[in-house]
Amino acid sequence: MSRTLPDDSAYGITIPSLREQKRARRPIVCLTAYDYSSARLVDESGIDMVLVGDSLAQTMLGHENTLSVTMDEMLHHVKAVRRGVKHALLVADMPYGSYQGDPWDAVRNATRFVKEGGAQAVKLEGGAKRAEAVRRIIDAEIPVAGHIGLTPQSINIMGGYKVQGRNSGDITQLMRDAVALDSAGAAFIFLEGVPREVAVRVTAEVEAPTIGIGAGPECDGQVLVFHDILNLAFGPAAKFVRRYADAAELITNAVRTFRDDVTTRQYPSDRECYHLSQELISGLEAVCREAVVAGTSGEWVAYARRNPAAEGPERYAGISIPHQVRSQK
Ligand code: KIV
Repeated sequence: MSRTLPDDSAYGITIPSLREQKRARRPIVCLTAYDYSSARLVDESGIDMVLVGDSLAQTMLGHENTLSVTMDEMLHHVKAVRRGVKHALLVADMPYGSYQGDPWDAVRNATRFVKEGGAQAVKLEGGAKRAEAVRRIIDAEIPVAGHIGLTPQSINIMGGYKVQGRNSGDITQLMRDAVALDSAGAAFIFLEGVPREVAVRVTAEVEAPTIGIGAGPECDGQVLVFHDILNLAFGPAAKFVRRYADAAELITNAVRTFRDDVTTRQYPSDRECYHLSQELISGLEAVCREAVVAGTSGEWVAYARRNPAAEGPERYAGISIPHQVRSQK
């Protein structure tokens, strides 16, 4: 067994280094990514944490909500993102149905994300009622992030995507959920769609860094969806989304210009072509003619064998049929 220990920096961002960021009040930056190219762009921009969110059901697969995405589909994307992320911490989102039942299913599925997908942590939605699953997954040596507040997998219970924690009963439950996840050992707590004033208190109460999305600036970190910040989501944006670029416009313009260049024969130009040497060009006519004659006469022989009475098809008119081929007929 090797006794060489790599130095800590070889691991990039880690759970302890993110906890240290909370203590030092240095905001944690998290963004979603769903494939190799977006993962590379995000990682190489210096983001701390990359989340392969189940929001890919909408952004990448065109579903209406997150409920239908499967473990296998999530894994397919996690593997691609793993190949693109070298520095950030990679978190895989557990899809609906992969952890809500038997906690051992939760462990099995979380293990797949680590073993097959190369994720360094998993995320699941829900608070106190998920504490047992969180503990068991951690017992399997897998860091877990909780996700409370507006939890998209509860859309049918919530009756839509609605800001949570707006009355005293909900606020009490939210605080209990945060504390239950923290006591169970959650590595982070994602806080989605909750009033700023509530997020401040949750953040102060728990040791785990809170990562907000629509939860105000006092969270220990912020996460947004890749497609939202780039205007690639095809729908009205939530109040908390800030668009940093209009990739939809950029891509549409590029694609339209390509279409126009092809239809007007401006693409490809001569500089975008491969060329033969002058010597080969001079012999080209003869080489091509020989190939055509050999190829078509071969076809003609096959045709003639199938049709012994044939005199020779019209379409070969103009190509001389070699003597030996004629005699085979
Ligand atoms: O699926 C997702 O993208 C998420 C967040 C943005 C927190 O869960």
